[in-house]
Amino acid sequence: MPEKRIVLRNCGVIDPKRIATYLDGDGFKALHKAREEMTPEAVIDEIKVSGLRGRGGAGFPCGLKWELARKAHGYEKYVICNADEGEVGTFKDRYILERDPFTLIEAMSIAGYAIGSNRGYIYLRGEYHYLLSLLTDVINQAKEKEFLEHFDIDIRLGAGAYICGEESALMDSIEGKRGEVRYRPPFPPQSGLWQQPTIINNVETLMNIPQIILNGARWFSQLGTEQSKGTKVFCVSGDVEKPGVYELLLGSHLRDLVEGLALAEKIKMIQIGGATGRVIPYDMIDTPLSFETILGAGAVTVFDESRDVIDMVYRTMEFLAEESCGKCTPCREGTEVMLDILRRFSNRDGTERDIIILKELSNVMALSSLCGLGQAAPNPVMDSLEYFRSAYDNRMRNVKAGVVT
Ligand SMILES: Cc1cc2nc3c(=O)[nH]c(=O)nc-3n(C[C@H](O)[C@H](O)[C@H](O)COP(=O)(O)O)c2cc1C
Repeated sequence: MPEKRIVLRNCGVIDPKRIATYLDGDGFKALHKAREEMTPEAVIDEIKVSGLRGRGGAGFPCGLKWELARKAHGYEKYVICNADEGEVGTFKDRYILERDPFTLIEAMSIAGYAIGSNRGYIYLRGEYHYLLSLLTDVINQAKEKEFLEHFDIDIRLGAGAYICGEESALMDSIEGKRGEVRYRPPFPPQSGLWQQPTIINNVETLMNIPQIILNGARWFSQLGTEQSKGTKVFCVSGDVEKPGVYELLLGSHLRDLVEGLALAEKIKMIQIGGATGRVIPYDMIDTPLSFETILGAGAVTVFDESRDVIDMVYRTMEFLAEESCGKCTPCREGTEVMLDILRRFSNRDGTERDIIILKELSNVMALSSLCGLGQAAPNPVMDSLEYFRSAYDNRMRNVKAGVVT
């Protein structure tokens, strides 16, 4: 597999517990360069020109987000690292935090300098509590070496809600409230944590920052495709022989990623991007992985011929219905109605009318839900209807084992 390591370059190379090993390489040189040789605006320009887009799922241009926060007025500004990693099938942020936490700390400090913030938070997934002591220690080591003189970092632990990875619910959670999606606008760069300008970036997004500052925007922008610059870290799991974390140039083909890890002829379908991601059949294995085509947060779950597509979609919807925060009706009710219908198909009791309702409901949810959960929850259902329609047809009422009675 043609791996290209930018984000994971230090993983397995440095000792994540000892700052000295990070400093032996180019540790904190990017922060030094940014602070000593560049204005905050120049840092933001560099990130904008690099074309770096968010790796947390939505793909928003990173430099533009930072610029909006830089220009916004507030008595404080905040940098939040989204380490909630609740997406089904993702484990890359954990892998990075375990192996190279120093780069993240450095990147957050650069972000603070760029937007004019002296306070950052790492919002850590509750299940990753075992990383709390490592991260606290890493921050303390950086403080002792005076790398965090201008920027302080705190850690906040989530409590296991998928929705708290969504940026506005995440801020509610840090503020000590129940995590619920906020109405937008205003967007976080204008009014975020405690109504102050805030940038929220995924762990992987931030990991690119020091290398862009050191090597320049032009270097980064030459990697990848027209609208998808750099690399992506993928989490491959499911029916593969070597599940794991792999970093590839954006635009690489799905085939590059999964073939060799699985026996190709046995693959039935692949779910890309987690619970709200896309489901594609094996014959689309030559799809490039990029923001232009299909990507999400980097989860790639492989299902072999023994798996049942309706069962898989049903379980996915069960998760989404359970995790919906309940604030908006289309998501709260829509996921439950979809679940009911999928249950009917599981019990071989679906109808043609159910299919029509699934399609109509899918449009309503996509157009009117408050956040990405409700907007994208229908994706697996719609994809399974498009690519695996016969699975539904075979489970209609009055159809027994594929034969109309
Ligand atoms: C239901 C839901 C869950 C999310 N979970 C995460 C998550 O665990 N980690 C993450 O980085 N982004 C998550 N996001 C995306 C964030 O809202 C946000 O777009 C992201 O943190 C921005 O960072 P980026 O621009 O660096 O990608 C989630 C979004 C939704 C709708």
